[in-house]
Amino acid sequence: MSNLGPESSDPSEGRSARVDEDLPSKTPPGPDGLPVVGNARSLIRDPREFYDKLSEYGSVVGYRLPWMEFCTVLHPELIERVLMVDYERYAKWGLEDFGGEFAPEGLLLTDGEQWRRQRTTIQNAFTVERIQSYGDTMAQGATEMINGWDDGEEIALNQAFSKLTLDVLTRSLFDLQLSEGSDIVTEFAETLNDRGSIDGISTFLPMWVPTPKNRKYKRVLSEFRSFVDGLIDERRGRADEYDDLLSLLLAAEDDDGNTMSETEIRDQMVTFLFAGHETTSLALTYTFLELAKEPSVRERLDTEHDSVLGGGAPGLGDLNNLSYTEQVIQESLRLYPPAFIMFRKVTEDTELGGYRIPKGTRLTLPQFYIHTDERWYDAPERFDPSRWTEEFEDSLPDYAYFPFGGGPRHCIGMRFAMLELKTILPIVAQSTEFELLSDPDPELDMATTLRPAEDIRMRVSKR
Ligand code: HEM
Repeated sequence: MSNLGPESSDPSEGRSARVDEDLPSKTPPGPDGLPVVGNARSLIRDPREFYDKLSEYGSVVGYRLPWMEFCTVLHPELIERVLMVDYERYAKWGLEDFGGEFAPEGLLLTDGEQWRRQRTTIQNAFTVERIQSYGDTMAQGATEMINGWDDGEEIALNQAFSKLTLDVLTRSLFDLQLSEGSDIVTEFAETLNDRGSIDGISTFLPMWVPTPKNRKYKRVLSEFRSFVDGLIDERRGRADEYDDLLSLLLAAEDDDGNTMSETEIRDQMVTFLFAGHETTSLALTYTFLELAKEPSVRERLDTEHDSVLGGGAPGLGDLNNLSYTEQVIQESLRLYPPAFIMFRKVTEDTELGGYRIPKGTRLTLPQFYIHTDERWYDAPERFDPSRWTEEFEDSLPDYAYFPFGGGPRHCIGMRFAMLELKTILPIVAQSTEFELLSDPDPELDMATTLRPAEDIRMRVSKR
């Protein structure tokens, strides 16, 4: 797991922010000659084309949507500056200006002291030992999913994995079985994904505009919050009977003995359902899409599984021996990064790549673009797990690959996700072959995550 993006596991770790007294006066170049609306339009139509155009201006590019300044960073060294070195000058930006009433008090979006306190508490649910204890739930979920398929059945693979990863997440983090009348969890997770699309004009409208999507989102969010409030009430005073993230949140106290507020706990649950479910499910979906398209990769994977696992589920001791499986996952997260872009907001005038970046500028750090830049990857559009040799990893600049972000705010669920992928992939591959029935090059929707616009349809054949 050496090259899954740079990380620092201690939230207080990291080099301190540099102090630049003499900031340059020049702001980044960019397509300011274009009509302002033109930018918004082309971003909606084709994000890749839009970023191609931006890259003509260099590694730090300024542009504007009608009502705010943007800056895109297209070089790994500068991405490292933002995430790892000067991170204190770049706050999280959760697209709230686009109407993202989401989970402002959750770990993904808090900043400063509140974030540090939350991260330190929540980190305890993600220690290596804890995560390893979730392995059985992951394996069991995968086996149940496969047992539910008939030989020859046609399935929507993305939906099957989405159900599976939601189930794994709720069971391991909230000790909750989805069959326990909690349809609202599934509905909420789906609605959350539906409304974040940057290719839909409604995303550019504030929350108070009652588009059908926004109305539905608000209704479902409110139902979901009531559901979580009920769960919290039920657990209060009984936290020690459970061994999950929710109990940890309920029991957590800061140095002054203060516990987390109800809103904070609820927003954590919303956050984890959002951040930990569809991301992993998409990684599985794209991996099996490519395996169905590339028989030679599939063959090599089968050989590794035969020799290391011999048909069984991977135990913890096996994981280090599944090196090709890991390469396949790495390549899948490169070509199809589920979190395809990251956002920040500049908290004070700062310098980046020789330019002045004014306070308030929104920064975008696009994994989908950096991961397919010819400067770092040969034949970047090709799915080729064998590119991930040790020498290649050593030669690759840090932050030319960052599917899990980086710096103090790197994905807290990275090890959880990798264990899940490395457990589920071999279990499914050893018992099932898939014949791809839908488009081999599906259209991708740059929504809150990088999703297929249509279902990925497969015919199951049991092995
Ligand atoms: C393949 C799967 C996953 C991918 C690609 C992914 C990607 C990311 C990325 C890129 C970030 C950084 C966002 C930023 O800095 O703006 C992040 C943060 C986060 N992820 Fe993940 N993630 C995955 C799985 C998970 C899982 C399984 C969980 C929970 C169990 C999770 C929970 C979180 C949380 C809570 C944060 C915010 C951390 C903080 O700001 O301190 N993620 N993830």
